[in-house]
Amino acid sequence: MAAAQVHMCQTIFPAHTNYRGELGAGQLLKWIDTTACLAAEKHAGMPCVTASVDDIQFEETARVGQIISINAKVNRAFTTSMEVGVKVTLQDPLTTFQKLICVAFSTYVAKPVHNGKVDLKPVEFVTAQDSLEYTLAAERRKIRLDHERVCKNLVEECGMNSEQVCNQGEGAISTDLTHVQSTELVLPPHANHQGNTFGGQIMAWMETVAVISASRLCRLHPTLKSVDMFKFRGPSTVGDRLVFNAIVNNTFQKSIEVGVRVEAFNCEEWAKGQARHINSAFLIFNAVNEHGELITFPRVKSITKDGLRRYHGAIARKKIRLARKYILLKQENNCTLDFWDRGNQADKIESNVTALTVLAAKPGWEMISTSLNYIKMFTLEETDALSVKVEMQVRISSELAFSLLSDFRHHVHWVKHYSMCKVIQNVTEEDKIYHITSISINGNKPDDFLILVSQRKPCKTGDPYIIAVRSVALTSVPSSENYCRREIQCAGFLIYPDGNSSFVSYCIQGTPGVMPYVAATLDGSSKSIEDTASGCIHFLELQSSTMDCI
Ligand code: COA
Ligand code: ADP
Repeated sequence: MAAAQVHMCQTIFPAHTNYRGELGAGQLLKWIDTTACLAAEKHAGMPCVTASVDDIQFEETARVGQIISINAKVNRAFTTSMEVGVKVTLQDPLTTFQKLICVAFSTYVAKPVHNGKVDLKPVEFVTAQDSLEYTLAAERRKIRLDHERVCKNLVEECGMNSEQVCNQGEGAISTDLTHVQSTELVLPPHANHQGNTFGGQIMAWMETVAVISASRLCRLHPTLKSVDMFKFRGPSTVGDRLVFNAIVNNTFQKSIEVGVRVEAFNCEEWAKGQARHINSAFLIFNAVNEHGELITFPRVKSITKDGLRRYHGAIARKKIRLARKYILLKQENNCTLDFWDRGNQADKIESNVTALTVLAAKPGWEMISTSLNYIKMFTLEETDALSVKVEMQVRISSELAFSLLSDFRHHVHWVKHYSMCKVIQNVTEEDKIYHITSISINGNKPDDFLILVSQRKPCKTGDPYIIAVRSVALTSVPSSENYCRREIQCAGFLIYPDGNSSFVSYCIQGTPGVMPYVAATLDGSSKSIEDTASGCIHFLELQSSTMDCI
């Protein structure tokens, strides 16, 4: 028997949309929760409640007249709880256009009508995809059950204190201006047949107050980009009064985190002021200007103790979100490379250069802090990828930087974990295949990479020098037992002249092989990326001064 599945289709009408005619994220969260809850109840054969919803990232905006298609499937039943995977796609009835809006994972707990607990039957899987989701569900469960503890520890470990925040400089805006409170009375249409408030309804109300809070900072209509894990701590029922408090916790260049806390009161509790804390959530927004470009948010400051704690909490959550993504990408990444020696070589070379250009030009890169002012580090979060960009100012000409960086045999001088790099094939004058091996770290098997490096000079003034990198597979260099073969889907350098200096930008799309270095930098346990970038600058400038002497 296949896993329980439920489909829902909705046409977007004006009542579902905001002033721009775009589907409100709150409405979408309601539909997602309803579809997922129905799938959970189909499996359990009894009412279920939402325990939590994992991080969701919204990729597309849906508009009036378009169709939303939601597919929910129970991936795995644990004891009393089960994970439901939800995929939301967008279709246009006038065209064949179809796009992914988001993927979500919710946990539901079976609630027998006469209370108590019930052990759920296991989910049977028939396809290889079912089996993969079953395995990944256990990984995601570990992460979600540990979320609160990890976040608390990270805030404490980083020793974040008030002095750090006071250094925010001139022009930072007080978060107090963004405080919003709103009260809702839970009525029957907001609840299920048991009288329990729908989780999706609560999420929709949370989104409404969070949007207002974010708009107070940017004076624009913000768009929900992602939500951090929602946890439903306790139930609420018809007749409850729900009080929503929201405030901006922090801003990250192109995005902003708003936190919302929900407290429930029944009539008696209301009079006595006895609140039940039922939910807290953190929503990430961005906003576009009249030209459709993402705006940069102003920095914020807070003078209250709670505000300072939340300011650092937002940084910790961002790091955890990125690290979580890394873990899950690592589990899912089973891409197999085309063999280089089996045709389409011209296409592979072309796509190498194009992919790097597209990656570097994507909107939404966000700067993360580094301790050095001549090195800047950025991340780009997408549903199925996490990319990193490092920008460096180097005091050598762009031509020389290009010639030194495009020969990967030089890279062993500054990438500390590389042990060997040799050219395997000169495909053309501008395209070479290299074999790189690394040293063993912490007793693990060393890594090796087989990469195609394509170097291109600028076609016209203003264009950068390009050095694009991607992994290839070669029958003559199969993966060996001594190394763990790692893959790079897209990486490389873009070098821009800047007077006598150069502006060098290195981008890499996160894959399991490279993400440990990124994760270690993000969680503060290592400065490996910064160190590598410093090493690169040092090498380039040293070569330049040696040549000057000659
Ligand atoms: N995310 C995912 N699963 C969670 C969770 C979370 N944040 N918190 C608890 N669970 C799971 C547990 O792992 C356990 O699963 P298992 O039996 O398969 O191992 C199951 O929920 C029950 O956990 P337990 O510790 O026994 O129960 P609890 O007393 O913490 O209650 C809820 C958990 C979800 C039932 C309870 O918090 C609740 O009623 N929340 C409100 C639910 C609701 O009404 N939602 C709609 C919106 S108000
Ligand atoms: P924490 O304060 O540790 O973040 P809470 O669960 O108390 O956790 O609150 C979650 C979020 O809700 C906060 O980060 C904040 O953004 C918002 N919030 C909480 N209380 C208030 C309040 N009184 N006024 C405005 N916003 C609030």
